[in-house]
Amino acid sequence: MNVADLILRKRDGFALAEAEIVYLIDGYTAGRIPDYQMAALCMAVYYRGMTAEETLCLTRAMVHSGSVLDFSSLSGLKVDKHSTGGVGDKTSLIIAPLVAAAGSSVPMISGRGLGFTGGTLDKLESIPGFTVQLTLPRFRQVLERVGCAMIGQTDEIAPADRKLYALRDVTATVESIPLICASIMSKKLAEGLDGLVLDVKTGAGAFMPTLEQASDLAQSLVDIGNGLGTSTVALITDMNQPLGKAVGNALEVREAIQTLKGEEPQDLSLLCEELSSRMLSLDSNASAAGQTRARVVEALSSGKALQKFAEMIAAQGGDPRVVDDFSLLPQASYQEVMASPSRGFIQSLNAKGVGRASMSLGAGRETVDSQIDPSVGILLNKKIGDWVEKGEPLCTVFYNQTAKLQSVRQSLLEVFSIGPDRVEPPPLVKRMVE
Ligand code: URA
Repeated sequence: MNVADLILRKRDGFALAEAEIVYLIDGYTAGRIPDYQMAALCMAVYYRGMTAEETLCLTRAMVHSGSVLDFSSLSGLKVDKHSTGGVGDKTSLIIAPLVAAAGSSVPMISGRGLGFTGGTLDKLESIPGFTVQLTLPRFRQVLERVGCAMIGQTDEIAPADRKLYALRDVTATVESIPLICASIMSKKLAEGLDGLVLDVKTGAGAFMPTLEQASDLAQSLVDIGNGLGTSTVALITDMNQPLGKAVGNALEVREAIQTLKGEEPQDLSLLCEELSSRMLSLDSNASAAGQTRARVVEALSSGKALQKFAEMIAAQGGDPRVVDDFSLLPQASYQEVMASPSRGFIQSLNAKGVGRASMSLGAGRETVDSQIDPSVGILLNKKIGDWVEKGEPLCTVFYNQTAKLQSVRQSLLEVFSIGPDRVEPPPLVKRMVE
């Protein structure tokens, strides 16, 4: 096969055959095909797209570019959840122990935050001692013992995606649905799952702002998962405003623990219950018995889910006492309350603006090498639909450097729009795709 001919065929809008896609992915992973040819191919895909069959073949080739984990010896269903990323989205921290407490295994391989969205690994690392870098044998041990484990991508998992994602990032070829789908699904399907629930965010703070774009992405992801033998469903959920009240790593861990205790914000706990229940429903026996929601509620109210979280923290080297003592989490030196300039109902609350402000305080990365400050962030005192009096707190900023606070003060006030009209909070789950 000739790589230049394959690029030309894609450039001219023809579909590639499975053997050709495998040849390209294997050759690129092994270093036989250079970056410049792969970059040209990605750009051709960006403009010409891929058929559903090609996208499936690309994903399969990327899954098999590394190890596919085999957890068949573990009891119960092996399930995971993937979110396309948002602001204040700490659902993974709650769902993994919750679903494990309800009887399934959750081998979760997560990512870091980049730009205005947070990353699960950064949040977990704000727990003193917690490591997300486990070897695969250790990952298996934690799973066997606890029922859930959360790590970062290893060299063995979908190495083709690692190389390709880095290349796409610098060649303006990230925003292509077939390439995004193959990238996301290759990492997840290499976990050897029985079932996968996708949380595809839509709204002003999401990668896919419109419901139509989010639905197209969700359908493509679901078709790949089901096409490659993993039961997959997607929920399209709201990301017009941040999820929950906390944005910033240690603040989000704290809110996740509060949610596991049944204490904290309704939107966050409702979404976690919904996603967890869908994960358990992928087991046809459980869904037939209609028991999944009851199992989730029981795992939360009995304290078993919180206990699982503490067990997972301990098994991954962290200090499990954080679940009872928040002062063990990193603390920002200063707080400033942002007072409302007027009275009225919160009409909108720009998730991207809050995410950007949190990133500027040091909670997120501007580039992959940036160091993050786990203690800083924003706590929202008001959300869409709430009434606020003039002078009442809109949000509280946790910061360590005054210059950084000054850089976000004005923009944070602008993320809230306040008016006289009563508004309903946006519905959390907008659509299900299966
Ligand atoms: N997340 C991924 O893992 N890959 C993409 O291509 C985009 C988002």
